[in-house]
Amino acid sequence: MSTTTTQSRFLPILLSCAALGMAILMLLAWLNVRGEEPLSPAGNSASTPAQIERGAYLARAGNCAACHTARGGEVYAGGKGIPTPFGTVYAGNLTPASTGLGEWTAAEFWRAMHHGRSKDGRLLYPAFPYPSFTLVTRDDSDAIFAYLRSLPAVEQPPRLHELSFPYNTQLALAVWRALYFKPSSFEPQAKQSTAHNRGAYLVQGLGHCAACHATRNALGASANNGAMDGSVVAMQNWYAPPLGPYGDDKAAYVRTTVDLLKNGISQHSSAKGLMAEVVSSSTQHLRDDDLKAIAEYLSALPQPSLATIAANEATPEVMKLGATIYSKHCADCHGKQGQGVPSIYPVLAGNRNVTLSNTSNLLQIVKGGGFAPSTAANPRPYGMPPFAQTLKDDELAAVITYVRNSWGNRGSAVSVVEVRVGR
Ligand code: HEC
Ligand code: HEC
Ligand code: HEC
Repeated sequence: MSTTTTQSRFLPILLSCAALGMAILMLLAWLNVRGEEPLSPAGNSASTPAQIERGAYLARAGNCAACHTARGGEVYAGGKGIPTPFGTVYAGNLTPASTGLGEWTAAEFWRAMHHGRSKDGRLLYPAFPYPSFTLVTRDDSDAIFAYLRSLPAVEQPPRLHELSFPYNTQLALAVWRALYFKPSSFEPQAKQSTAHNRGAYLVQGLGHCAACHATRNALGASANNGAMDGSVVAMQNWYAPPLGPYGDDKAAYVRTTVDLLKNGISQHSSAKGLMAEVVSSSTQHLRDDDLKAIAEYLSALPQPSLATIAANEATPEVMKLGATIYSKHCADCHGKQGQGVPSIYPVLAGNRNVTLSNTSNLLQIVKGGGFAPSTAANPRPYGMPPFAQTLKDDELAAVITYVRNSWGNRGSAVSVVEVRVGR
């Protein structure tokens, strides 16, 4: 008797929970396919050599090969792992093999680029930067597809992702997408120049600069509407600084930025680490008008605030030790006054990279050394030697603190603890 009452009391609650659950699932499902048109059953139309050539160029701008080529593997055959805080996601085979895009139609390819769904309807992980690629036009998507289909087919089965629960479920992805992803199109702004709009399209869309340069939230989604306000790149310990003009001379900023993206080196600085890879496989291959468009668009972004809070002041003892090490190990290349050698050794005096409040890149470059990318204008870049073995932790901290606080530079002191991280 009492069980029946309990049952009759709980039944409506159960039913409404089930109904609510269903409603949430239906909402999730709807949010994940909204805006999709039915796939046309038509096969692929023949492509022209001009379309293939355009697609090859656009694939450079999107840096597709960098992620879709495993180290030492065939170009575009996939198998490279993209590390994320949730596990490793493997980029697939983009060649026209049966294990790649061989059976795909242009419409299915567009659905992957624009909606982030695979041929079989599977939701894709945003380690594939479709939150940016969604802005790519259908025409450009078709050209890239035509190019990929012109490649030699490499039969290489895709590798399974290595993700931890619950991130390995489609439900988790569906929730993520409902919260953070909405397919959208690029809208040129009528009051901006053609170059500005072209730059915006490349930066926000194919170039997916936000994948590194935009702040991320705990679930790896770009926060602040994709603003390029700077971010530590997940799992890589490189800091992609905020993009935007520094100083009032916008023409100088445009020149410097074009140089950096084309040559990997500018009057003041050079591309390092992850950015050197971007320049090497993508931006150095872009046309001058596109690079100028990118730089012009970036120059119109709000000037990043570069408040370097001098939380830890440099002490005179540390500065003295830093000066000794600098003159012994660094001054030969970077100059006694941190003046560098234009387009060979970066200037350290007045260099924004040196005084950023985030010190990841400084630690990377001084500990690990590095090379700017090899480009047409700078085929044999000069190298920066690694100092992790040569110098002790307190010496590294001192010399970095010294360059952050000499010749008019002003930045917080770097501690021995910071240097030790990652040793
Ligand atoms: C930052 C790395 C990265 C870049 C750059 C990138 N991809 Fe990918 N791509 C991935 C990863 C990782 C996946 C796997 C996602 C998944 O399986 O959920 C993927 C998946 C795909 C898929 C779906 C494959 C399938 O079997 O479902 C297509 C199509 C694709 N990428 C095309 C491109 C194109 C075209 C470009 C350049 C315009 C590009 N990708 C650039 C990382 C990248
Ligand atoms: C894979 C991550 C990644 C991607 C994608 C990426 N960047 Fe970067 N970028 C970095 C990192 C890390 C740095 C800092 C290292 C350095 O200074 O070279 C950087 C530095 C830069 C700098 C120099 C910063 C300065 O203040 O002068 C510019 C300019 C730049 N990126 C532009 C771009 C543009 C434009 C795109 C898109 C076409 C882009 N980046 C895509 C990681 C990335
Ligand atoms: C043999 C010449 C050489 C020596 C010695 C040298 N550097 Fe460098 N340094 C370079 C080169 C070349 C680069 C550019 C590397 C790149 O682009 O990856 C560089 C880059 C840098 C950068 C990054 C600048 C930027 O724009 O982001 C810093 C900081 C730096 N060096 C500091 C030092 C310090 C501190 C020392 C001494 C402990 C030192 N360097 C010794 C050649 C040198």
